[in-house]
Amino acid sequence: MSDEGRDGVRESALSRRGLLAGAAALAAGASLGAPARLLASTAEWRADLAPPAPVGAGRMLGVPFEKHAEVRLAIVGTGLRGRSMLNEWLAVEGVRVTALCDIVPEKAERAAAMVVKAGQPAPRLYTDGERAFERLVGQEDVDFVYTATPWSWHTPVMLEALRAGKHCGSEVPIALTEDDCWALVDASERARRHCLLMENCCYGESELTVLRMVREGVFGTLLHAEAAYLHDLRAILFENRDEGLWRRQPHTQLDTNLYPTHGLGPVAQYLGIHRGDRFDYLVSMSSPEAGLTEWRERTEPKDSPTWQERYVTGDMSSTLIKTARGRTILLQHDVANPRPYSRLNNLQGSKAVFHDYPARLYIDGAKGGERWTPLSEYRAQYQHPLWQALGERARSAGHGGMDFLMAYRLVQCMREGTPPDFDVYDAAAWSVPYALCAKSVRKGSAPVKFPDFTRGAWQGATAPQGPATG
Ligand SMILES: NC(=O)c1ccc[n+]([C@@H]2O[C@H](COP(=O)([O-])OP(=O)(O)OC[C@H]3O[C@@H](n4cnc5c(N)ncnc54)[C@H](O)[C@@H]3O)[C@@H](O)[C@H]2O)c1
Repeated sequence: MSDEGRDGVRESALSRRGLLAGAAALAAGASLGAPARLLASTAEWRADLAPPAPVGAGRMLGVPFEKHAEVRLAIVGTGLRGRSMLNEWLAVEGVRVTALCDIVPEKAERAAAMVVKAGQPAPRLYTDGERAFERLVGQEDVDFVYTATPWSWHTPVMLEALRAGKHCGSEVPIALTEDDCWALVDASERARRHCLLMENCCYGESELTVLRMVREGVFGTLLHAEAAYLHDLRAILFENRDEGLWRRQPHTQLDTNLYPTHGLGPVAQYLGIHRGDRFDYLVSMSSPEAGLTEWRERTEPKDSPTWQERYVTGDMSSTLIKTARGRTILLQHDVANPRPYSRLNNLQGSKAVFHDYPARLYIDGAKGGERWTPLSEYRAQYQHPLWQALGERARSAGHGGMDFLMAYRLVQCMREGTPPDFDVYDAAAWSVPYALCAKSVRKGSAPVKFPDFTRGAWQGATAPQGPATG
């Protein structure tokens, strides 16, 4: 499909696809199920769920939620992440959990017990098969559908939710192909409902402190940022439960950055991506693969089915993104080698530089010369209002507090009837490197254009994204 996403081009591509695919593809898709077709786009095999947006459909930039006295929440996927976020939402005032869905009934029941223990009525459970969410999304008493399923189910769940007229949010990334990113943008615009990436890292204490410093001009002109997901997941990837059941599979399928959004979301927020700038193009290259193969040799019994697998994802994926305003971003991914955790989270401006892990800053002309000062020394002056108000409460929650604040902000926006902190365009742009890095790697690191998911609206958008800094 076209990278440009102009309405005319897109409409004809999708119409042609619809004519060719038709009912036969639909039936085939239904019987195949998404995980078996990890690399195929949902937009292709469920064309009925992803019609192009009507020409001239309004954009979803800055669109407020309608006000909700109470937010009625449904969760699809009640594994580790689903239950951990359920715990956060149960701690936020004004949330009622009305429906839960998982293909493993015991997991949905465990989550339901948490809801009841929190003093709420027992939620309805949907556990009969991998498409049970199709019935859940139609339930009257659901305002927001959150999906924490394996990656390949994110798009199908969100498209169904939008078709049913529900706001929805997905764990990271929202989609694995360019077509599916477009399908979600179109579906969100058509339904006039929000489709969000639940990127918790945007709510971290360091990230929001730096965001406030950016907005207050501490960094001067922003030039360059670095973002990553560098996390030793070897043991988890080979477990015979939870993520070990599905998260190794993409490593056998695609040489790309498999998890771009944790690093990219906060950096996009600093740079105001879709607020006067956008990702223009990227070039990507991958190192050889060694980590998973060597881990298997050391830890897996010789009769393990994992010996049938061949890992094709290069261990260290390095990508350079150029923005329309000329700024540069280094984006990396490695989950297969020993190392302390890092999302890099670095920012260079004309007046200051920030590096995370550990969080430290140098401001031009600072006393003591060119040396780092811990970010904590600037906290009293620049701590984000959200952390000032809720930091104590948040700190004991998941991932150092960012999970609680993300849950809190969604509910606050829905109850107050304000726009969400991020929108479907951010979700698509932060997720699409999964597909684009693979394309660049395949072409010998050739430049690959980002689609403009906003169809030009980024140029006029000025309202800052993320929770307000002042
Ligand atoms: N934002 C974060 O910090 C963070 C942390 C961990 C995981 N995640 C993301 O959350 C998602 C889930 O990860 P996890 O660690 O909970 O994995 P998990 O394997 O523990 O949970 C996934 C759950 O989805 C269920 N499931 C599978 N197919 C389904 C379907 N068709 N319908 C309903 N349920 C289905 C599984 O039975 C399982 O309970 C992934 O996208 C992962 O990348 C995000």
